[in-house]
Amino acid sequence: MARRNPSFICQNCGATHGRWQGKCDACGEWNTLAEEGAERPAQPGRAPRKGRRFALEPLSGEAHDAPRLASGIAEFDRVTGGGFVRGSVLLLGGDPGIGKSTVLIQVAATLARAGQRVVYISGEEAIAQVRLRAERLGLTGAPVELAAETSVEDILATLGEGPTPRLVIIDSIQTMWTDMVESAPGTVTQVRGSAQTLIRFAKRSGAGIILVGHVTKDGQIAGPRVVEHMVDAVLSFEGEGSHQFRILRAVKNRFGPTDEIGVFEMTGEGLREVDNPSELFLSERDLGSPGTAVFAGIEGSRPLLVEIQALVAPTALGTPRRAVVGWDGSRLSMVLAVLEAHCGVRLSGHDVYLNVAGGLRINEPAADLAAAAALVSSLANAPLPADAVYFGEVSLSGAVRPVVQAVARLKEAQKLGFARAVVPEAARVENESGLALHAVGSLANLVADIAARGSRSVRPERRDAGE
Ligand code: TYD
Ligand code: MG
Repeated sequence: MARRNPSFICQNCGATHGRWQGKCDACGEWNTLAEEGAERPAQPGRAPRKGRRFALEPLSGEAHDAPRLASGIAEFDRVTGGGFVRGSVLLLGGDPGIGKSTVLIQVAATLARAGQRVVYISGEEAIAQVRLRAERLGLTGAPVELAAETSVEDILATLGEGPTPRLVIIDSIQTMWTDMVESAPGTVTQVRGSAQTLIRFAKRSGAGIILVGHVTKDGQIAGPRVVEHMVDAVLSFEGEGSHQFRILRAVKNRFGPTDEIGVFEMTGEGLREVDNPSELFLSERDLGSPGTAVFAGIEGSRPLLVEIQALVAPTALGTPRRAVVGWDGSRLSMVLAVLEAHCGVRLSGHDVYLNVAGGLRINEPAADLAAAAALVSSLANAPLPADAVYFGEVSLSGAVRPVVQAVARLKEAQKLGFARAVVPEAARVENESGLALHAVGSLANLVADIAARGSRSVRPERRDAGE
């Protein structure tokens, strides 16, 4: 028998190479290629299998009776778009220790208590460990069926018996292995093979499956980017080690929105749902210090207030630092460029740090105005009014542009006790909120307002001109 050529598969992106090399051509990562056996080839000399005929169906027809099953945990259901779709597969990614197993055992217990058959397969922890967690969460009474197994074939043989489970949790996909593939567990080929087999089971049986996926240091679900394409929805569970907040976000969702977030708080008794995230994100506010601005944002269908913190300080380096956490780095560069070009603010001799409080990540351009306000406030050493919120998009010309859902943003601000809002001038806002609106047409206006109250000039002389 001819020796099969080995293939080298990038463990980061899944690209296949004919020989080993230090760098993957496809994704540019170094040292990610590993030798793996190919998926089992057809037996040599055997004629290829003749295809089986199947019936083609019309578009109209009987739909499933209950297409969605709500988990009963509102923040989870918000992100999935109303619950689990029958026969769908969901991938839940997140850093180790962030609380994936915790949230899933809570979901499992809630559903099982509601009379659904739920199976929790742990490939990472022994049954005793899972029980210990359930005990801590006070969930031992829930009729969840539990196993510590890693063989996909064994799992499917077991699940095939009895009524089809409504939900199967696989914790984690990286620990699973299937006989169909020769590679070691954890490799891309194994993960892909195991996921494929499980997905096929879900589609065939109508059981919903949640796969847990580990995340690498750069935030991608480890190895199986390929799995992301195979599943119906990808959720990511995020948070910072030092904070109690956990944010569940849909990265992809075939059956629902991808802009909703679910907010949880990690407590001694597991994850608690947070119905009013703004309150939580503002709870640690540092009132009266320069460099902070409250942004009235929208996450999905829900308004969310969050504090944006900036620090602008003279640099000791040749090239000043720009560091940003929770916001887009290129968006920050743009705001800085507009401040320099149109507002006369000199930042080339300053390090700039920007942070979104509470570990939240903001994607909205509407945060431009709040970020700019925080930056100028720090530079001018001028605290912003504690009772003001900011929102508006800044264009490259320095104009402040209107943003969507202004009314919802204002209402949320009023609900949380804010008295004024700095908003785009062009927005014709129906102001029923009772907030005092301060409309700004250009970023330069805002800069002038803040600078007038500050104790430091926002147009410091260049250092080479002598200090
Ligand atoms: P876990 O769900 O095991 O994380 P993952 O599955 O994502 O790796 O959560 C582990 C962390 O959560 C651990 O550091 C302890 C903490 N934790 C609590 O703070 N409270 C709790 O009730 C539980 C169960 C865990
Ligand atoms: Mg875990």
